[in-house]
Amino acid sequence: MSFGMTGCGFGWAVMLLALWRPATACPELCTCTGLRISCVDAERSIMAFPKLESEADMENVTDIYIANQISFTSINERDLEFYRSLRNLTVINTKLAYIARLAFQSNPKLQYLNLKENNLSKLSWRTFRHLNISYLLLAGNPLQCLCDNMWLKQWRVEEAEELLCVEEGGKRRALATLTLPDCVLPTVTLTPTNVTMKKGLNVTLTCNTSGMPTPNLTWTTCKLNSAFKEEGSGQISRSQLKLTNVSSLDNKCRITCRSDNMVGESEASVELDILFPPVISKLTDAIPDHHWCIPFSVSGNPKPKLRWLLDEQPIQEGKFIHTMIHDYSEGEYHGCLQLDSPTHINNGMYTLLARNQFGEDSKAVSAHFMHEPWNVSEPLYYDDTPLGPPEDKVAVYVVVGIAAITFTGFVLMLVILKFGRNSKFGIKGFVLFHNVPVEVVAR
Ligand SMILES: *[C@@H]1O[C@H](CO)[C@@H](O)[C@H](O)[C@H]1NC(C)=O
Ligand SMILES: *[C@@H]1O[C@H](CO)[C@@H](O)[C@H](O)[C@H]1NC(C)=O
Ligand SMILES: *[C@@H]1O[C@H](CO)[C@@H](O)[C@H](O)[C@H]1NC(C)=O
Ligand SMILES: *[C@@H]1O[C@H](CO)[C@@H](O)[C@H](O)[C@H]1NC(C)=O
Ligand SMILES: *[C@@H]1O[C@H](CO)[C@@H](O)[C@H](O)[C@H]1NC(C)=O
Repeated sequence: MSFGMTGCGFGWAVMLLALWRPATACPELCTCTGLRISCVDAERSIMAFPKLESEADMENVTDIYIANQISFTSINERDLEFYRSLRNLTVINTKLAYIARLAFQSNPKLQYLNLKENNLSKLSWRTFRHLNISYLLLAGNPLQCLCDNMWLKQWRVEEAEELLCVEEGGKRRALATLTLPDCVLPTVTLTPTNVTMKKGLNVTLTCNTSGMPTPNLTWTTCKLNSAFKEEGSGQISRSQLKLTNVSSLDNKCRITCRSDNMVGESEASVELDILFPPVISKLTDAIPDHHWCIPFSVSGNPKPKLRWLLDEQPIQEGKFIHTMIHDYSEGEYHGCLQLDSPTHINNGMYTLLARNQFGEDSKAVSAHFMHEPWNVSEPLYYDDTPLGPPEDKVAVYVVVGIAAITFTGFVLMLVILKFGRNSKFGIKGFVLFHNVPVEVVAR
């Protein structure tokens, strides 16, 4: 098409394209209806997993149905990568013999997997590890009576009871009653089971595993701040993780030892409980919120006890002034000394004392509580002598109210006079009113 296309011609082209799309988007030999793709033509078989033209089209497909395809043999690593919404996959009565270990890595919603009447002889549990499969149908495949397939006995495989496997001589037998030598699910023990220790000390975690074939042993940890050294991992039956000079930053860190082989996997883990004295990392001047708040952040294990001093005198906490912990994150407790309607008499030097059985920390801040001049209720706060009869209160409210309204009106007028004509600095409403006529004129 030429670039000199008129707007009208372009419109037609778009319409034609729109009409063409459904026909070209669906792979040849398959039919696509809504969110379902099905390839069932027994006369002409697909050779590879069906794909749509664009990634966006594949994104919402929930159902793929492939049946009676004599040239369909494998599901490869990236065949399903764009079918992120896929729930139902049926591949029946084909020559499917191979499914890549990572074939379903992009299909977290996959639930129903019907693979009956194919040519599968081996299948790994790792292919399905991350999925929440509720149906896995495998009947009618020449599954071999090998350790590789023994995981099927423990897995939630539909009709696992009836699943048959083929022995070397070609004889078929029930997988459910099959036992093989040297084919054992791994077990793991992690010691110690409870790591409660002071910071700065050393600890060695030991992981023992059994299982046949020899499992692969791996450690996973949070991002450790302590120095650590792994002694032995991979295909061995015992590994150690040595932590030296443990850091308080690793408190509550979870350490896991995992062991897997072709039969399955198991794991054990422990959470580090690292004892350390309190550290106050933050204490800042009061901020007005719903209440007034003197914010602080403090760490320590066990959780420190907190006390406050105002100008070196202990503060009695009560209804109007008390410590609040709002959350625990990144190893610290974050909170406020919360004050209800403080006045100038609350100004002063606030000291926070944090203590547990391993030590203590303190920090001080000078806090100022000020009232904005336009705070209507202020006179009532500052005046220690009670007001007279109720009419007096009303009079105060009326006077202050009128003053506030007048003041607001005055400020508004100033704003209008100063910025109203200059649309750049105008209030939103002004920008609109100001600009519309200009645009009309420009056309
Ligand atoms: C896929 O679904 C999402 C959300 O339902 C929708 O916004 C999007 O347009 C759909 N994409 C296609 C190609 O239909
Ligand atoms: C998946 O397919 C099966 C059989 O065709 C059907 O019974 C089931 O309702 C489908 N599930 C979803 C989530 O589409
Ligand atoms: C761990 O051990 C410590 C001290 O030995 C004990 O106080 C704590 O309750 C134990 N924790 C668990 C979860 O067993
Ligand atoms: C053991 O597991 C690790 C981590 O999962 C992996 O990188 C490694 O390839 C595995 N080794 C064997 C022999 O399976
Ligand atoms: C232990 O770690 C702390 C920092 O976390 C460091 O200051 C100290 O020097 C270390 N001690 C030793 C013996 O390495």
